[in-house]
Parts: sequence; C-alpha cells; structure tokens
Amino acid sequence: MPTPMPHKLVTLQRHMLEQQSKFPYATGEFTSMLMDFVVAVKLISREVNKAGLAEVLGDAGHENVQDELVMKLDEFAQDRIYKAMDHGGHLCCMASEEEKDLIPIPPQFPTGRYALMFDPLDGSSNIDANVSIGTIFAIHRRKSPGNGPGTVEDVLQVGNNLVCAGYVIYGPSTMLVYSTAAGVAGFTLDPSIGEFCLSHEDIRMPEKAKIYSANEGNQAFWGEGDRKYIQYLKTPDKDSGRPYSTRYIGSLVADFHRNLLYGGVFLYPADRKDPKKPAGKLRVLYEAAPLAFVAEQAGGAASDGKHRILDIQPKGLHDRTPLCIGPKADVALYEKFLREAGDH
Ligand code: AHG
Ligand code: MN
Ligand code: MN
Repeated sequence: MPTPMPHKLVTLQRHMLEQQSKFPYATGEFTSMLMDFVVAVKLISREVNKAGLAEVLGDAGHENVQDELVMKLDEFAQDRIYKAMDHGGHLCCMASEEEKDLIPIPPQFPTGRYALMFDPLDGSSNIDANVSIGTIFAIHRRKSPGNGPGTVEDVLQVGNNLVCAGYVIYGPSTMLVYSTAAGVAGFTLDPSIGEFCLSHEDIRMPEKAKIYSANEGNQAFWGEGDRKYIQYLKTPDKDSGRPYSTRYIGSLVADFHRNLLYGGVFLYPADRKDPKKPAGKLRVLYEAAPLAFVAEQAGGAASDGKHRILDIQPKGLHDRTPLCIGPKADVALYEKFLREAGDH
C-alpha cells in the first residue's frame, strides 16, 4: 500500500523561500546559501549510510571505492561542507570545529554578507557503532565592514545575533531541523527523491522534562550544584514527575533532538576531569550557541549555569562552555542549584 501523503507537501527549499518572503527586501540569497549547504548534507548522509560498507566494497574492488570512502567521516564532512560553501558568493568566511583558524573564502571567489560556523560531524565517537550522529550549523550576518574577506569578528559574535541555526541528524532517517528566528521546523530526507520534506511543523519543546541526559560517569569531577541537581532529578516525587528517565547517547545532536521532541534536559557541566578544559567539553560557536538558538525558538532555554548561552561573547574560535539545555523550567532549576551551591 502506498504511504499516505501528508496534508501538505512542502520541500525544504519551498519552506525557506516562504520564511524569507516574510522579510521585506528578501532577495532569496539566504535560501540559495542554505540550499548549497544542503547539497553537502546530502552527500554526508549518503556517506554515513554506507559507512560500515567501506571495507566490504573495498574488498570487492567496487568502482566507487576511492580514497574518500576510507577518509575519516569527520574529514569527509568538513571537506564537503567547505567545497559546497566556498564559491557561492554568500559567505565572507567560515569557522569549523575541525579547523584551528578562521577559514577564508579562496581569493578567486566572491565574498558575501554571511559567516558560517559548523561542527561537521558531531558525535563522531559513535560512528563505528552505527549510532546516530549529526552536523550542527549557525549563520551570522557579517560584522566587518565592506565586501572583502571576513574576519574573526564576524564569527565571534553573541549567539543572540544569529540569523539562522540548526542541525542535521543522521539516524534511522536523516532529518534537518532549523530556525531563522521564526520558530523551528523539521524535515525528513526522502532518499529516493533526494528531497527534505517538511515532517515536523512548528516544533515546540515540552514545557517540562521527563528525561535527563548527562554523562554521569564524570560525576566525581563535577561541582556540588551539578551533582545535587542530577540527584534531585532522580529523587522520586510523583507530583513533580520525578524520577526523570536517563537517556544519554553521547552525540549531542541526537540527545538534543530526542529531548526536543520528548521533553528532556541535557547537561554537560564544567568538570575537573581535564585541566585543559575547565569549562567542560562543548564549544560555544559550533555546539552550544546553535542549539541554544533552536531551543529558545522552540520555547526552551539554554544556560551555562549562570548566563543565557545566547548572551555569551566568545573570545576565541574554540571557546568551550558548560551547557544545560532543555525546557525553561528545568534550566531555571539548574541555575538555582548552582546559585545555592555557590558554584561558578
Ligand atoms: P564531537 O564528536 O563533535 O567532538 O562532539 C562530541 C561531543 C558531543 O556530541 C557529546 O555530547 C559529547 O561529546 C559527549 O561527551 P562524553 O563522551 O564526554 O560524554
Ligand atoms: Mn560536536
Ligand atoms: Mn565534531
């Protein structure tokens, strides 16, 4: 039997054009930029889906087996996003979790009005186990004057200035979730036609969590407020819906996506595990700010325990931050626990 049709069939491109048409003077340039990005994402999705086949195909001497198939997937993702975005004329620069320095637009190509930040492959430790991974992206309007090459000031902006952010999750199906500050929408890739089709219109985060996600193996390195908060979420109290269930994949995108749909709070606190990373593991530009933008647009919140993530002024391309992200009430409670413990 054919799959029933949704009442409205909307492609990602159509949705983006409709979103943009709400802004006066919209030229369609923004949509065109995002569609360039989507080409890279489809290539990554295809590659992720056959990741486990690389050696099998290689042994068979299949003609598709080139170097790229054995290239590490995060390098592959980095390369495809860069190559899809370097020549479109929309960007003045890029910054990636995988690159130490700002990524310039090659001098032979025109530069544009936007700056792109991305985590090409998030959750890469999960690749070999066939567990969901993702790509995170965020876009700022350039800050530096003129049309020339961009500078670090274009990417080192507070998350509050973002004009777009989202993520792609490579799971049982590939989904793209994004926001241009007018709510959050989710699209599922139909691989047979190569189109992202609207599957989750106006996503709202449930008002209260029933799940918590944290790597509790690190508890010994956490502060008192973090420990007490998680302990509280586990303490039974029927009226408050406790205990929460634990769900932790170890892929931020996948943990966040599940929590967004089902109602969950994700915590990656500051810890004393690695003296080189006192602010925890997650990066402001490529992980915390983009997801905070999506969370807020879906009615949720994100905090470092003291400040709203979107108010953080990054000082370096690879700054890290503690991250508590989820429903407003759960994030506010986290801040209260940290205040009471005198942490931070
Ligand atoms: P990445 O694969 O981009 O380096 O990010 C991994 C991150 C994130 O996806 C996840 O939430 C976190 O690492 C898990 O860290 P732990 O293994 O310390 O729990
Ligand atoms: Mn990551
Ligand atoms: Mn990564």
